[in-house]
Amino acid sequence: MSESAGNQPVSRNIVRAEGQVSGADREAHFGHRAVTVWFTGLSGSGKSTLAFALEAALLERSVASYVLDGDNVRFGLNRDLGFSPQDRTENIRRISEVCRLFQDAGIVVLTAFISPYAADRDQVRAIHPEGAFIEVFVDTPLDVCEARDPKGLYVKARAGEIPDFSGISAPYEPPPSPEITIDTTQPLDACVAHLLAALPLSNGPRR
Ligand SMILES: Nc1ncnc2c1ncn2[C@@H]1O[C@H](COP(=O)(O)OP(=O)(O)O)[C@@H](O)[C@H]1O
Ligand SMILES: [Mg+2]
Repeated sequence: MSESAGNQPVSRNIVRAEGQVSGADREAHFGHRAVTVWFTGLSGSGKSTLAFALEAALLERSVASYVLDGDNVRFGLNRDLGFSPQDRTENIRRISEVCRLFQDAGIVVLTAFISPYAADRDQVRAIHPEGAFIEVFVDTPLDVCEARDPKGLYVKARAGEIPDFSGISAPYEPPPSPEITIDTTQPLDACVAHLLAALPLSNGPRR
């Protein structure tokens, strides 16, 4: 595989093609804003649970949405990537481009990735239009995540069986100014209601 220099494509012989339908046209068609809702938080904080519950709640409200979930993406698109800092960054870079495509297509895309590095998340924000990237900090304390341990990963990490585990043996950088912060010591229904109220999905000027 050829290396691309910085943000530039490897090939010089490519030119962007323009369609006739704009993002605004698609938003008007679907009747809601298209945004990327980026959940970030420790393993076990509740990202997947919240994203899938929100997806179901949005479907009930006729909002077109789709979840990109960490492990699911690592089974396919990113199956060549591990958990080294470089691979984590590349993982998020590829996902960010997928999010941007979904968002451009008029969809509310919900993501559930630990995404431990603030700089990586800022890169995702940078490729979105102003107001179309909503960072949601799933602010569950490490001890609560560890007590939940839904996949048994904290036990393995404490036993030294997982070398790069965010919050234990690898860093997690909390977002300094997320659009939304969720306290998952509240019941799931309350968290979903909070998200539905806070998300800027109504058509009209972006907030
Ligand atoms: N309010 C809540 N929001 C999300 N998850 C919750 C909440 N309360 C309890 N949980 C539990 O916490 C665990 C979160 O696991 P998961 O969603 O897989 O986390 P992550 O995707 O962040 O690794 C699940 O077992 C879920 O049932
Ligand atoms: Mg998950």
